[in-house]
Amino acid sequence: MSEILSSLDNGVLTLTFNRPEKMNALTRSMYSGLAKELNDAAGNFGIRAVLLTAAGDHFTAGNDITDFMNNPPTSDDSEVAQFLGAILNFPKPLLAAVKGNAVGVGTTMLLHCDVVISGPTAKFSMPFASLGLVPEAGSSYLFPQLVGYQRAARIFMTGESFDTDAAIDMGLVTAKDSDPLAHAMKIAQHIAEQPPQAIINTKALLKAGDHDSVAAVMKAEFEIFAISLQSEEAMEAFMKFMSKKGK
Ligand code: COA
Repeated sequence: MSEILSSLDNGVLTLTFNRPEKMNALTRSMYSGLAKELNDAAGNFGIRAVLLTAAGDHFTAGNDITDFMNNPPTSDDSEVAQFLGAILNFPKPLLAAVKGNAVGVGTTMLLHCDVVISGPTAKFSMPFASLGLVPEAGSSYLFPQLVGYQRAARIFMTGESFDTDAAIDMGLVTAKDSDPLAHAMKIAQHIAEQPPQAIINTKALLKAGDHDSVAAVMKAEFEIFAISLQSEEAMEAFMKFMSKKGK
């Protein structure tokens, strides 16, 4: 069974992270599958919106830590870079339905979504510094812009998590629902019925002010992230996770 499932329903492409036994931790091949799906969807007239969701009880535990250790993404054409580039440049509406843990890139990818619906169990966190790493996906720019400098600094520097109500207050999440997927699908279907070119133009205008800045920040983040990944601080944190799990 593929670790990225895709299904098309009335113009809405649903992409499902499908590795629930590992809390949907994202591997290189999953990033690459997601990037391909998004790039294909961008050029497919039949697809009007994309909805990101996950199998099981959790959205994603972030980047797979074994992959971080064995195949560190150190170049800006790595699979994760391709995925982040694809969401940064995705021209059509991107929605997400979140439940359970949304760790690391599980939270930062939401900064690129147009609508996020989240369940009562959702727990968002960006513990990059705790892992000896730095924020990615343009989050060092987008998150303080969204929530204010001090709230962003506190969340990045403590690694603390926050719930759906806090995420709604921040503007990271649109609404809370006990069935986030059904709610997000309803909005996606509504958007898919709108005039498609007007939707694409609207998104381009909404994103225009920040696009180039985010792209530049993402590039800088990649460079520091790649160095951090090979640091002693990161190795120590990864080993701690692995030994806790008896790996
Ligand atoms: N990479 C690889 N495997 C991961 C993972 C990750 N990021 N997150 C979870 N998993 C795996 C666990 O190893 C475990 O697999 P196992 O049953 O074969 O041992 C399974 O997913 C379930 O996770 P577990 O840790 O047992 O669940 P938990 O409820 O005790 O803890 C978390 C949940 C999210 C707190 C914990 O899994 C965690 O800290 N994960 C790492 C998150 C992270 O740092 N991501 C990178 C961000 S940049």
